[in-house]
Order: sequence, then C-alpha cells, then structure tokens
Amino acid sequence: MLLVGGVVAGAFISLPSLADTPRVSGPPPMQLPTRRWVRYPAVPAQLSPQAALGKQIFFDATLSASGKMACASCHSPEHAYGPPNGLAVQLGGPDLKRPGTRAVPTLRYMTFTPEFTRHYYFPGSEDTEDEGPAGGFMRDGSIASLHEQAGHPMLDPNEMANTSRAVVVDKVQRGAYANTFRQVFGAQIFADADKAFDSIGMALQAFETEDASFHPYTSKFDSVMSGNALFTAQELRGYQLFNNPLKGNCAKCHFDQPGPGGRPAQFSDFQYAALGVPRNADIPANRNPKYYDMGLCGPYRHDLADETDFCGLFKDATLRNVATRSVFFHNGRFHTLDEVLHFYAERDTAPQKWYPKKNGKLVRYDDLPPKYRDNIDRLDPPFLNHNPGEPAPLNEADIQDLAAFMRTLNDGYSSTSGGPALHEAH
Ligand code: HEC
Ligand code: HEC
Repeated sequence: MLLVGGVVAGAFISLPSLADTPRVSGPPPMQLPTRRWVRYPAVPAQLSPQAALGKQIFFDATLSASGKMACASCHSPEHAYGPPNGLAVQLGGPDLKRPGTRAVPTLRYMTFTPEFTRHYYFPGSEDTEDEGPAGGFMRDGSIASLHEQAGHPMLDPNEMANTSRAVVVDKVQRGAYANTFRQVFGAQIFADADKAFDSIGMALQAFETEDASFHPYTSKFDSVMSGNALFTAQELRGYQLFNNPLKGNCAKCHFDQPGPGGRPAQFSDFQYAALGVPRNADIPANRNPKYYDMGLCGPYRHDLADETDFCGLFKDATLRNVATRSVFFHNGRFHTLDEVLHFYAERDTAPQKWYPKKNGKLVRYDDLPPKYRDNIDRLDPPFLNHNPGEPAPLNEADIQDLAAFMRTLNDGYSSTSGGPALHEAH
C-alpha cells in the first residue's frame, strides 16, 4: 500500500491494520510505506544580505524601549522559536512589567502561511464548499505578511514598546549594523523613516523565510516519512488515531499529508476553529469580566466583527515541536500536552473538569460571551455531540499513544530526515 497520490485535503488515509500490535510487547514495529518527501524550501548555501541583516535585528535588544527585549526574547530559538518559559503571556513594555494578552506562538513552520481569505475552497476540487476563513499571520489572521507583522511588536506598548517608527529607525541608524543597513537598502535609506522602518520588516521577513532554523524538518516523523526511520508500535498507533476521522480526527485540522510536490506536512491547515478553551485567570486582561478575546471577530481585528459566527475562532496551531512547549492554545491555559489531550477527550463528557461554576451552575465554554457559545465546535470528532457522563471518545491508552506520536514531531531527531531514503519501500 502506498500513501502517495490522490490525497485530498482532509481525506482519511487507511493504514496497515494494527490488530497485530499489542500494547505492551510484541512483534517489531511495523514499517510505513515510503512516500515522496521533498525538502522544501531548499536550504540556501548562505543567507542573502537582507536575511543576514534580519538575523542581527531579530536578536537585537537595543531596538526595544527597555533595551532588554528582542524578537528572540519571546520567540526563543532554543525553544523552536516559541516562548522561553511557561508564562501564559510574556511581560514587555519599557519596564518589562506589562503583560500581553495572548500566548506566544512558535515561529517554526509558519513562513508559508497562506494569505488570509474570508472564503477558502479546497484547490482542485469541483464540489468543494466554502470552508470559511483561512490563512493570515497572528492567531486571528489579522496581518497579511511577515514584513508588515515585524513592525507590530516593535511598537506594541506591551512588547518592545517603541513610541514611533522614527524611534526604531533612529536606533538602527546609530547601531552596530547601520552601514550594512545602508549597503543592503541604499545609501539614502535613513532619509525616509517610513521606508527605513519597512525595510527592517523586509530584513526580518527574509531571515524568517530563508533561515533553515525556521523550517528544519529534522523530526522523527520526517525521517519515517522519507523512509529513514521506523515508528515504534505505540507511535504508529498514535499516528493512526491522529488520522482516524472517527477517533482523534486531529489530521482534519492539523493536516499531516505532504503538500504540493511532496513538501513536508505543516501540521496545520491554517483554518480556524472555536475549541472552547477555558478562560485563563493568569491573563491580567481577563480580570475584567467584560473582556473577551474572540479571535477572528475581535478585539484586535475589526473587519469581521459583524460576522458573529466567527466569534471564538482561532487559527490552527502547527503541532510540530508541540511536545517541547509548556504553553498551549491562544490563551496559554494549559501547560502540558497531557492536559491538552485530556481536554480534547473530555471537554464535553466531563466539563466539570474544565469549566468553573457560577451560582452553583457550570459555565461551559466560559471564555466566550454566552450569546456566542453555539460557535463552539461540536461537529468534528473528537468533539462530535458528546454529553456529560458519556465515556470519553479517547481513552487513557489512546491519549498516551497520541502523545507518543506527537513527540515524533520534535525537530532534532536526525539531520538526514527528509533526505533520500536509506532503503526503498516494499
Ligand atoms: C513580548 C513578546 C513578543 C515579542 C518581543 C515579539 N513577539 Fe512575535 N508574537 C508574540 C505574540 C503574543 C504573538 C501572537 C499575537 C497574536 O496572535 O495576536 C506573536 C506573533 C508573531 C508572529 C505571527 C506568527 C503566526 O503564526 O501567525 C510573527 C511572525 C512574529 N510574532 C514575529 C516577531 C518578530 C519578528 C518580532 C521582533 C520584531 C517579535 N515577533 C517580537 C509575542 C512577541
Ligand atoms: C476542528 C479542528 C481541530 C481538530 C479536529 C483538532 N484540533 Fe488541535 N487545534 C485546533 C485549533 C484551532 C487550535 C488552536 C486553538 C487556540 O489557540 O485556541 C489547536 C491547537 C492544538 C494544540 C495546541 C498547540 C499549541 O502550540 O498551542 C494541540 C496540542 C492540539 N491542537 C492537538 C490536537 C490533537 C491531538 C487533536 C486530535 C485529538 C486535535 N488537536 C484536533 C484545531 C483542531
């Protein structure tokens, strides 16, 4: 059996029967058929001058009001460009005491996020229906490009907190790489502060796009898919649960099939869903009972505010390196993968585990205003129409198997992942 060709987005791929793989011990791990797994993008021999400059900017803490905060402070290269600690939201601002409102996402594997669209249709499919919004940067898709995005943290009062674009440009002009900046963007670049500020964004975009550290594809998963390693029996069971539309159904949103031309899977389809993650009291903004982070419909983006069906929807996160993180979901409500998996399994079968009581009554989906709680996904397994007291759709063994599979998504397993297969598939 071959897992290549004719793969439709969201379609279930049947796997070898696992009937013969007992949970504790047994026959050696099964081999997955090799499929095409093409390293993409190709790793450049060296960074372009723009990207090399962007790398310096990314690590430059002098570009913040505090003098102590760089992009890398929140997007730590040692943590797959995710948060360096377990805080739900990071502290920034001039005194490094101002909390943000959302958890820091990883910057790995986000480079090829498609442009935001209000109406997504599966490409090449005749009978595709409107899949709703997809793409765009940030958890609400509010920013169209990486170069535009880079300007936001520089000016955000809770982050690098510069008071104007000109202030940032001035720092670059006086800084260590001012001459390189002129060489790359032109001798007169500092004469126009807006243009210079945009160029900072272009340099950061080039770094994030070119540098292989943003998309290394060195996980065990990549090794297995390119025929260079084997899953253990437990990882294989996890992989099957992940892909089984009636069980985990994870791959429906965390898409794990190769992209065009055999490009490695990104583990996100860049679409949006409302999962009903419980409110997080650790976010200071949440002390105001009237404050709600509703993702697509606000408070940060306003263009979809009237489309109340979108209230509570956030962009799918990539699951690559997820087992290395200690902050999960847009509001950082969970701190272990095990908690996240139990939430997926028991959100609706044991809601008392997740949601608070008010006046003796359980408030399900408490991080959304009551009028929008119907937006919470109850149609896609593992959430399909479950009610309190029913058995959880994923049991303890399933959860351990899924976790084992997700640990194969950590980079750093082998530098030859994704390279030519050492042995051919049968
Ligand atoms: C104080 C912490 C902090 C700093 C400093 C910071 N970021 Fe972020 N970054 C975040 C948070 C939080 C988000 C998610 C915000 C949202 O979704 O609204 C984010 C989102 C992003 C995204 C979007 C990722 C995606 O998947 O859509 C990119 C790209 C990014 N940051 C790049 C940068 C760059 C470049 C810098 C430096 C100029 C930087 N960040 C500095 C906290 C930070
Ligand atoms: C209907 C689409 C959908 C399905 C099905 C789904 N997810 Fe998710 N997943 C999302 C979205 C959307 C987010 C981000 C939500 C947020 O930030 O509030 C997410 C986030 C996550 C995260 C947190 C990642 C991070 O870095 O914060 C994990 C872990 C995760 N999903 C695992 C799974 C697993 C395991 C399954 C299967 C049991 C699964 N998901 C099924 C849509 C889905």
